[in-house]
Amino acid sequence: MENFDGKVALVAGAAQGIGKVIVQKFAEAGAAVVFCDLLDDEGEKVAEDLRAQGGRALYQRADVSSPQAVESLMQHAVQNYGRLDILVNNAKADAWDRLTELALEDWNRVLAVCLTGSFLCAKYAIPHMIASGSGGAIINISSVHALVAYSGSPAYDTAKAGLLGLTRQIAADYGPEGIRANTIIPGRIVHEDLKKRIARLSSTPPTPLPFSAYYPVGRLGTSEDVASAVLYLASDSAQFITGTELVVDGGLTTRTQEWRLDNHSRRRWQRWWESQNKAKDEG
Ligand SMILES: NC(=O)c1ccc[n+]([C@@H]2O[C@H](COP(=O)([O-])OP(=O)(O)OC[C@H]3O[C@@H](n4cnc5c(N)ncnc54)[C@H](O)[C@@H]3O)[C@@H](O)[C@H]2O)c1
Repeated sequence: MENFDGKVALVAGAAQGIGKVIVQKFAEAGAAVVFCDLLDDEGEKVAEDLRAQGGRALYQRADVSSPQAVESLMQHAVQNYGRLDILVNNAKADAWDRLTELALEDWNRVLAVCLTGSFLCAKYAIPHMIASGSGGAIINISSVHALVAYSGSPAYDTAKAGLLGLTRQIAADYGPEGIRANTIIPGRIVHEDLKKRIARLSSTPPTPLPFSAYYPVGRLGTSEDVASAVLYLASDSAQFITGTELVVDGGLTTRTQEWRLDNHSRRRWQRWWESQNKAKDEG
């Protein structure tokens, strides 16, 4: 396990879900962690639980789309723990509608949290990282939506694809000052908070959860899968890795979905293909 003794990590959007586990893993690995969210009760509880276990963790409410809130969040981290080494941009908003039906407010809201929020956090974190004197690591949490479209999700997909460019910019411009930046591209991640949301939508949540058949490894992801990747990219083991993406998707994006054609459809395609070739030969 990586050791982050003496390091300070800031995780944006971490009162629940994947972010909460990232905070827990950093604290277990010795880092002092500051994290923000808009869910104050959940955030305070995560921090209190970690402190009760001997960890160093502070929650502060901050809207990542507000420059003032983000600037004071970074100052809060440095005032309390003396330095800043790691930033994880994990906050998320989404909106489901095809582009022609999507309201401009929803487009702006999703980009403000997923993309502008990551820009602001990096903008106000980097000077503190440089001042801390031993470089820094920024990890942007994107999604497989950055690589392949998920129907009816134009704002989220665009924001998540934008993070790839933002990561490269940070890596290129601040590499000489010791800052590395990388993107993690998770596939579907099932966590307790997501299960609660699914249960609220349906009185009988499907078991096992849908979609696992699409994953070559035969299961969906966990928050721990993403957190391990984050800690690796933040660690000295990844010193020569910057400006790139780590896909954490159980192989989802390694194959087309044509493999899912059932045998009946396959045979129909085979017959059609053979008839085409036969026609060509005879012609
Ligand atoms: N769960 C998945 O299947 C999955 C898959 C791929 C990528 N991801 C990405 O992983 C990250 C975490 O996903 P999750 O499932 O844990 O999501 P989540 O919605 O459970 O957590 C995101 C957190 O961001 C917080 N947040 C929202 N707006 C904010 C704002 N303006 N300022 C500060 N915090 C704000 C939310 O309150 C929430 O706690 C997200 O970036 C998401 O896009 C998730």
